[in-house]
Amino acid sequence: MVKSSFPIDWVRQQFPALNTGDNFTFFDNGAGAQVPQVVLEAVEQHLVRHNVQRGGRYGKSQAVDAALQSARESVAVFLNARDPCEVAFGMNATSFIRLVSLAIADILGKRKEIILTDLDHEANIATWLALQSRGAEIRWWRVRADGTLHTSDLQPLLNDQTRLVSCAVASNALGSIVDVKGVARMAHSAGAEVFLDAVHYAPHGVIDVQDWDCDYLVCSGYKIFAPHMGFLWGKRKLLERLPTFREDFIPDEVPGKIEVGTYVYENVAGMDAALRYLQELGRRVLPGSADGSPRAGLVNSMEAIRSYEKILVGELLCRFAEIDNLTVYGIKDCGRLDQRVPTVCFNVNGIPAAAVAQGCSDNAIGVRDGNMYSPRLLRRMGISPETGAVRASLAHYNTVEEIYRFIDVTQAIAGHARQRAIGS
Ligand SMILES: Cc1ncc(COP(=O)(O)O)c(C=O)c1O
Repeated sequence: MVKSSFPIDWVRQQFPALNTGDNFTFFDNGAGAQVPQVVLEAVEQHLVRHNVQRGGRYGKSQAVDAALQSARESVAVFLNARDPCEVAFGMNATSFIRLVSLAIADILGKRKEIILTDLDHEANIATWLALQSRGAEIRWWRVRADGTLHTSDLQPLLNDQTRLVSCAVASNALGSIVDVKGVARMAHSAGAEVFLDAVHYAPHGVIDVQDWDCDYLVCSGYKIFAPHMGFLWGKRKLLERLPTFREDFIPDEVPGKIEVGTYVYENVAGMDAALRYLQELGRRVLPGSADGSPRAGLVNSMEAIRSYEKILVGELLCRFAEIDNLTVYGIKDCGRLDQRVPTVCFNVNGIPAAAVAQGCSDNAIGVRDGNMYSPRLLRRMGISPETGAVRASLAHYNTVEEIYRFIDVTQAIAGHARQRAIGS
């Protein structure tokens, strides 16, 4: 049995959904994660005490303004943003990608080329493809056969016509991590901007927008242990230049010019609480080292999560390698865990992905099957997007015991497939 100093018992105690007694294993975290108790309390407190519109003169309304400002500051710390005004809240990542892409379409100018990847979630592809009718030209940065993007393949695509490179920080289907710092360096030296989709990466590692030197970045709160909401970060001077849709009387200032209409304030309060939970985890994994600094607490926390998740995914990949009729897509080599997050996409030869996911469900394990909204990537990996693959996407509250149970179930399914193949 693998040993780790990660405080997994404390972590699991924080999540009510893990303590309902149903012994269900959440391995579909890439589609949305569970929330800790502090998030439930923050949402409830908001609804009970401050369920009013922001911007009023009375105390409850001012409390909403304060809650939004507090969350903005927390998210800025989480991303290492220079200025909380660079953070905007909204419904989800897709609507933010759409908002930024439509604004960029209005100011394309001579630089009309947009570089996309076939590794990405379709939310970060279709939104940009839609700009072709507005004069944009798309260039494709193709994924290699091992399911990774190489910056050496990006270099030849960049030129004085490149407006923007938009790519994921980590693939939601295969888990491969992209060298986004390298992407930004190359794109900037060609005079282009960089838009990062950090939705899948965010629950697994440290984000540092200043170190990465990206220009825009989007996340979904519901993948980072908060309720359904999303947020956008952008460099202040770039956001200020974006011609966003807003009512005439709304000032052309961040973040108001990005936050069109009303969004779900209680979920933003929940996001703030999710980051407080992560800070507390950071204090527990390295007591004293965070010195009360919120950023240090979050960095400790995300680094500890990253190390722990490497143990989980390493164990899963090692055991999967022993099942001869199971194919893992993407990085399988345990020596390359630095290049991936704990998201494992696979098929059992001869059994539809849907049947494997059903078999897991019958054993109280939730995994996803299908195209993971990345049909281009699946095609590139030789998988039919119609039948798809199975995805186990882990989070830091999963355990090695859950991994072993999942392997036992998968092994049994693979064993049936082998028997059937022999019998036929
Ligand atoms: C990598 C990635 N990008 C974008 C999205 C879309 O996010 P949202 O549902 O917040 O629009 C997802 C959702 O799963 C995702 O995994």
